[in-house]
Amino acid sequence: MAEEKLLVKRDGDFCYPIYFENDFSFLPQALSDEGLAGKNMCIVSDSTVAPLYADQVKTELLKVTDQVCQFTFPAGEAHKNLDTIQDLFQCLIENGLDRKSLVVALGGGVTGDLSGFGAAAYLRGIDFIQIPTTLLAQVDSSVGGKTGVDFRQFKNMVGAFHQPRLVYMSMATLQTLPEREFCCGMGEILKTGLICDKAFFDFVCSNYEVIRTMDPKMLAIMIRRCCAIKAGVVERDPKEQGERALLNLGHTVGHAVEKLMDFHLLHGQCVGIGLVAAAAISRERGLLTDAEYEQICHGLEVYHLPLYVEGLSPEDILAATKKDKKMEQGQIKFILMDGLGKSFIDKTVTDQELLVGIRAICR
Ligand SMILES: NC(=O)c1ccc[n+]([C@@H]2O[C@H](COP(=O)([O-])OP(=O)(O)OC[C@H]3O[C@@H](n4cnc5c(N)ncnc54)[C@H](O)[C@@H]3O)[C@@H](O)[C@H]2O)c1
Ligand SMILES: [Zn+2]
Repeated sequence: MAEEKLLVKRDGDFCYPIYFENDFSFLPQALSDEGLAGKNMCIVSDSTVAPLYADQVKTELLKVTDQVCQFTFPAGEAHKNLDTIQDLFQCLIENGLDRKSLVVALGGGVTGDLSGFGAAAYLRGIDFIQIPTTLLAQVDSSVGGKTGVDFRQFKNMVGAFHQPRLVYMSMATLQTLPEREFCCGMGEILKTGLICDKAFFDFVCSNYEVIRTMDPKMLAIMIRRCCAIKAGVVERDPKEQGERALLNLGHTVGHAVEKLMDFHLLHGQCVGIGLVAAAAISRERGLLTDAEYEQICHGLEVYHLPLYVEGLSPEDILAATKKDKKMEQGQIKFILMDGLGKSFIDKTVTDQELLVGIRAICR
């Protein structure tokens, strides 16, 4: 075992375990321990991940069941939609999956969100497990129970809360992940530290050389800590009535940039840019020192995340930011930092302050 499994709780009770392993060899035991052996299973994966890992996973699953089918859809956010869900349902029906069956999500956040939602809706909800293969999915999208798909041009517009029965990750899958995708995961990891754990933020920044060599031991330590922090936040606020909103640090301006760039920048890259904007506003309010602001920029730089965006006007970013769904009764719900590792929700950020943040990220 690479790292001790993490037990995610809900309402104080055990909900499901997260495994941090070096390969898939412990998967059969993990399934048996959760009482999931013997089920009719469907591996759901995209066209990039399936050729890399589906056979390995299937071999392991066949040690605890004799019914495993596979559904593969074209990779990419463009396929995280209701059409793919319909194809998935067709596959589940054709292969006789019933209420006691299991969906096995093998892939990044797109696969996890899509499979989780499919499992939540099929026969009014069947079990699913997650085997996340991107860093972002391992530290972010596989924790918290949010599932869903995009609807027309609206992102994550249709979905459900559906907790997996277990999450199993193999550090080895990160070896095939493109560097840009790895760095995107690091954007969310830095964000998590900045929200509520300065020691973790410092750890990630100061160990960047080892982390970037993809040392499995170091990755497992980092990923486990990040999952534990997110799981803690989610446990205290499962339906996003309060604290969970802190996870949107860097996302308000980040989403605006993501949309205006027409998704030519990846989500994690936009989150990094959004963190700089949030840091600039926090510094303007005297909540961050110049040195702390520089530390944030440095942390992003060592993981090859952009600090600014080119070719967009501050006014356009402001307008797009204010259109974001995180607006509550006309007030923008902004997450600010109060030093490193401390954040809070603020509904008083003015347009002038937003522009200070936005100008910091425009070139
Ligand atoms: N549910 C949540 O709480 C939550 C949180 C954050 C993000 N998300 C969602 O997650 C999605 C983004 O996730 P993502 O960045 O993992 O995207 P993704 O699933 O599209 O994966 C990115 C790319 O990497 C490829 N890939 C995946 N694993 C690989 C591996 N091990 N080796 C080589 N290639 C691999 C995929 O095929 C894809 O092309 C978005 O749809 C977003 O809305 C959900
Ligand atoms: Zn994000």
